[in-house]
Amino acid sequence: MPSCHPTSIRFQRLLLTGAAGGLGQELRSRLKAYCTILRLSDIADLGAEATGEEVRPARLEDASAMHALLEGVDAVVHLGGVSTEQPWGPILQANIVGAYNLYEAARKNGVKRVVFASSNHVTGFYRQDEVVGTDDPARPDGLYGVSKAFGEDLSRFYFDRYGIETVCLRIGSSFPEPRNRRMLATWMSYDDLERLVVASLTAPVVGHSIIYGMGDNTTTWWDNTKARHIGYRPQDSSERFRAKVEAADPHPDLTDPAVLYQGGPFVRTGPFE
Ligand SMILES: NC(=O)c1ccc[n+]([C@@H]2O[C@H](COP(=O)([O-])OP(=O)(O)OC[C@H]3O[C@@H](n4cnc5c(N)ncnc54)[C@H](O)[C@@H]3O)[C@@H](O)[C@H]2O)c1
Repeated sequence: MPSCHPTSIRFQRLLLTGAAGGLGQELRSRLKAYCTILRLSDIADLGAEATGEEVRPARLEDASAMHALLEGVDAVVHLGGVSTEQPWGPILQANIVGAYNLYEAARKNGVKRVVFASSNHVTGFYRQDEVVGTDDPARPDGLYGVSKAFGEDLSRFYFDRYGIETVCLRIGSSFPEPRNRRMLATWMSYDDLERLVVASLTAPVVGHSIIYGMGDNTTTWWDNTKARHIGYRPQDSSERFRAKVEAADPHPDLTDPAVLYQGGPFVRTGPFE
């Protein structure tokens, strides 16, 4: 897989959590260009360890496993966790306890940079006629969004107290192509995902930063002006898919909360019993 970010910076050892997931599988091949050793972790099957890889299964809620996982690591790309609206139990374990374990392990192992996969669902209860900036208050659209807002606050605390730098990526929709009208605004190609992650890893000074993970889309609900120091320049637009997407859904119901709010269907996924 060609690398699409112009940098000569290489890490000795990068850790990628959630490496068996949708984005993790994509970044597994791409991040190798930026490190000597890519350590891969998940609870799902990661397959065989290739040259330049270390496969290290670990459960995020297991503090001692997380401590061992972060030993000898230069930086972390943290994708692991619950990635959809789910019952409180799994969200609490993977995204709340898991995030705490990750940062404690980073602190104790002297790891100084984390790229944290947050989510656009931190601000999903803003309407689609609003443009939200990275400083605007969180308005999570579910327990999943709340857990990502927690991760953002936790990482800010670990920067303020311990100097561990984090870039929180409020990822929109990173898939091969936009699947619906909402994704015309939220879509980010895998090449742009790579650009965003690598920029977040290699920008010299990031402190605690928040940036929306979106492409160079014509329609947008998010303003990354205050994250320009990351140096992320998206290059792929959803526009070339517009005709196909709109033809598949010619008459959206403008009274449907999923059409009105940025979080889409997440805003009407009620709490699970
Ligand atoms: N794909 C997107 O467009 C998108 C949008 C917004 C945010 N994100 C965030 O980006 C990250 C990656 O997204 P994805 O689409 O690849 O999600 P995914 O669900 O495919 O991958 C998440 C991975 O985390 C692992 N995991 C879950 N619970 C765990 C635990 N307790 N311990 C260890 N590992 C655990 C899963 O096995 C899975 O492989 C997630 O944090 C997600 O919330 C993704």
